[in-house]
Amino acid sequence: MLNIPLMKNNILPEDKEVLIDFIRTSDRFTNGPKVREFEEAWSQWLGVKHSVFVNSGASANYITMAVLKEMYGSGEVIVPPIAWSSDISSVFAAGLTPVFADVDLETLAMNENEILSHITDKTRAVFLTHVLGFGGLTQDLLDELKRRGIPLIEDVCESHGATVNGKKCGTFGLASNFSFYYAHHMSTIEGGVICTNDDRFYEYCRLFRSHGMVRELMDEELKKEHAERYPDLRPEFLFAVPGYNMRGTELNAVLGLNQLKRLDANNRHRVENFELFVNHLDPEKYFTDFRMDGQSNYAFVTLLRRPDREMFARLTELLKEENVEFRRGTAGGGNLARQPFVRKRMPGFDPAVLKNADFVHFYGLYTGNYPGLEKEKIIRLCDRMNTL
Ligand SMILES: Cc1ncc(COP(=O)(O)O)c(C=O)c1O
Repeated sequence: MLNIPLMKNNILPEDKEVLIDFIRTSDRFTNGPKVREFEEAWSQWLGVKHSVFVNSGASANYITMAVLKEMYGSGEVIVPPIAWSSDISSVFAAGLTPVFADVDLETLAMNENEILSHITDKTRAVFLTHVLGFGGLTQDLLDELKRRGIPLIEDVCESHGATVNGKKCGTFGLASNFSFYYAHHMSTIEGGVICTNDDRFYEYCRLFRSHGMVRELMDEELKKEHAERYPDLRPEFLFAVPGYNMRGTELNAVLGLNQLKRLDANNRHRVENFELFVNHLDPEKYFTDFRMDGQSNYAFVTLLRRPDREMFARLTELLKEENVEFRRGTAGGGNLARQPFVRKRMPGFDPAVLKNADFVHFYGLYTGNYPGLEKEKIIRLCDRMNTL
C-alpha cells in the first residue's frame, strides 16, 4: 500500500520547542508583540506594506468583505465556484451579492472573459481565488480591471508562494487573504492574514478584527479625529464599525515566525513533487495542461481527461485500496454553487451553467503533496493510476 495522507509533519518537534520556550518565558499570550513581529515578517516575505494576522483564513475572508462593503457600499462581488465556502459566505455575510463566473481548467481560477462579462455598474470587486497553487491571473485581466476601476481581492489561502509573471500572488489586488490552517503550505495550527498596500483598507481591517474599536487604529490622527467627533464617548470604548473578534494569539504568531523560515524550501520540494506527478500521468487519461509556470502546489490535482463516471469510480477505489487520502472536487468540495447555503440564497441560479466547475466537481479530486513525500511513491502512484 502507498499510504499517502493529505498532510504529514506540518508541525515539527522544533516548532513545539519554540512554543514551549515561549510559554515558559512569557506572560502575554493574546494579540501583542509577537503578532506584530509575524505581521512584519509576513509583509516582508510577500512584498506588501501591511498585514493583519487573524485567527483563520475564513476570518480573513469575512473581514475583507466587511471592509469592502464599508469602503465601497452595497453591490455585487464576482466570485469563483471553485474555492472555499467562506469565499462565498463572507460575501453574503457582508450584505453583498455574489455573482458566479466559471473557471478555466488550466488554473482552476475564474476565466478572464467570464469575469469581464459579469461586470456591471453594481460590481464592487472581483474576489479571485488562486486555487491549489496555480496563479490564476492574466496581465490582460489586471489591465482591464484597472481600466474599469474595479478592485481585485485575491484569496491566496491555497497558493502561498505562487507567482504570475514572477510576482507573488497576493500582491496584485487591493487586498489578499492567506490561511495557515494545518493542511496548508505552512501552519500556525489555525490562522490567517489579510495583506494590503492601502493604508485605509489596513486601518479598517484592524478595526473589524477587534470589535470595531478605534483604539486599534495605527494612525494617531484618525484616532484623534474620532475622539473629537464623538465627545460623548470614551476614546478607549469607541466602536466605529460593526466589528468581530477574530484576533490571533501570540502562540499562533510564534509558530508562524518559526514556520516562515521553512516556507520557501518546503515550497520548492512541493513544486518538484507536483511536476513529477503531472509529468508521469498519462495525458490520454488525465488532464495535464495545467499552468505550471509559477505554481506552488500543496496537493496533487487530478482531473480526468474525459467525463467518465466509471473511470472516476475506479480511480477512487484504487486510492482507497492504496490508502491514499483524497478529497473529491478539489479543496472546497467542487462546484460551490451546488451547496445548500448558496441554493437557498440564489434559488433561481442553475449551478450546471458553470460547466468547468461542474467538470471539476464530478471528475476531479486532490491528494496530498507534502515536502517529505518520497519521489518513488509519486511515480508508483502515477503508474497505478495510468493502468485504469
Ligand atoms: C481558498 C480558501 N479560502 C479560505 C479558506 C479558509 O481558511 P481556514 O481554513 O484557515 O479558515 C480555505 C480553507 O482552507 C481555502 O482553501
